[in-house]
Amino acid sequence: MRIAVLNGPNLNLLGSREPAIYGRTTLAEVDARLSDVARELGIDIECMQHNGEGALVDMVHALRGRAHGVVVNAGAYSHTSLALRDALSGIALPFVEVHISNVYAREPERRHSMLASAALGVVVGLGTHGYELALRGLVHELRRREADA
Ligand code: DQA
Repeated sequence: MRIAVLNGPNLNLLGSREPAIYGRTTLAEVDARLSDVARELGIDIECMQHNGEGALVDMVHALRGRAHGVVVNAGAYSHTSLALRDALSGIALPFVEVHISNVYAREPERRHSMLASAALGVVVGLGTHGYELALRGLVHELRRREADA
């Protein structure tokens, strides 16, 4: 099983970006932790980050036939990008949306997600640990579906 982990704009700044909101863990550290979890779960993961909306859409398209599911933190595009939701729906892979911060406790413009209605699940507000929870939850669900098939 192969899972893609997709990060959107400004998440390359994790570790130094608004640490009171996003913490001190870098994206490289998040990716390293996810690799350990993937090894434990016996799956493959590929971690990607891009700042551009079009590039993220292209990355999603490139997952067709390569991945079984996606963990995605689309950053600010989560709140605005119908194109990204269409791309994720278009490749028809289950995905879990992640937000490091509790977007529902922040500014009103962060309280709506364009992606959530198409997501398998959403993990919000648990810091960078949320990526690991999303990965474990996604793999658990994919395995359950496999067993049921
Ligand atoms: C974020 C929340 C978004 O509102 C914000 O634009 C981000 C990060 C989060 O992980 O908490 O870039 O997705």
